[in-house]
Amino acid sequence: MKKLIGAAGALTLAVAAASANAACDSGEVVVKLSHVTGGTTHPKVVAANNFAERVNSELNGRMCMEVYPNSTLFGDSKELEALLLGDVQVLAPSLSKFGSYTKRLGVFDLPFIFEDMDAAIRFTNSATGKDLLNSMNDVGFVGLGYWMSGMKYFSANKPLNVPTDAAGLKFRVQTSDVAKAMIAAMGASPQPMAFSEVYGALQTGVVDGQENTWSNIYTKKFFEVQDGVTQTSHQLLAYFFMTSQDFLDSLDADLRAEFLAIADDVTQQANLVVKEKEETNRANILKAGGTIRELTPEQRAEWVEAMKPVWKQFEDEIGADVIKAAAGA
Ligand code: LMR
Repeated sequence: MKKLIGAAGALTLAVAAASANAACDSGEVVVKLSHVTGGTTHPKVVAANNFAERVNSELNGRMCMEVYPNSTLFGDSKELEALLLGDVQVLAPSLSKFGSYTKRLGVFDLPFIFEDMDAAIRFTNSATGKDLLNSMNDVGFVGLGYWMSGMKYFSANKPLNVPTDAAGLKFRVQTSDVAKAMIAAMGASPQPMAFSEVYGALQTGVVDGQENTWSNIYTKKFFEVQDGVTQTSHQLLAYFFMTSQDFLDSLDADLRAEFLAIADDVTQQANLVVKEKEETNRANILKAGGTIRELTPEQRAEWVEAMKPVWKQFEDEIGADVIKAAAGA
């Protein structure tokens, strides 16, 4: 990695990619990390930039990492194929985006399966959780770890206090069958859509609402085009931090081991600071004039009840044992 880049080069990169990117030297293995989130306080932005900084300083001269946030290199629909084609080497997509490759990761989408992020972290550290990192090895995807993001909350263009308030509304969802079934259980209609299209769809009324973390709702300004956000904590958003087997095989053994060790360290670090980032972004929404509605225990019980049938619906394809391990974490 060259120490500095010229002003013109820096400007181009700042537009096309992360400002943290520096030019790579010839002879260095170039590693592209692509993701869809933005802003400076988002936990995935922080973790991705941290990974690049570590690689670029500790493996300088041998490996050089470039980060492309905000869907600037690949968006939701293309990034997994691009990884298999070798056009990108590292991704961190939401666990809700793997339905075409494995059904087992659907466990993370089951509504109210995790009491909070700590329970989700306990599950990812369990034998079952670790095993799921290998659930797509046959495709050529290698799980490097789980990056937590946060619990998810519903927002809409009208106040949502109980699930019947959502009846008849259209909600943007990720490409997850579990999420689609959950929205249907609320009497609403799910609209799968790429993350980069959500703000426009909310603004123009193509959809009435969405569900996401404080970090995404703040950094993508969804709160500006919604009536408010309801603190449902109904689902987890976490990322499958990943590479491809082809890429790992292309590295010599020493470099591969050092790369994997940094990836592991960055994952531990990311999950230590994630709750603080989420709280910061919750506070940022309020500071920017957004509305957050908290639920009474009775209202929360109504959301839990409405979504209960969803677990049974996916028990066969996810596996009763996997669901049990997650629910008991
Ligand atoms: C979404 O599509 O809502 C999220 O998965 C985006 C992200 O990567 O946080």
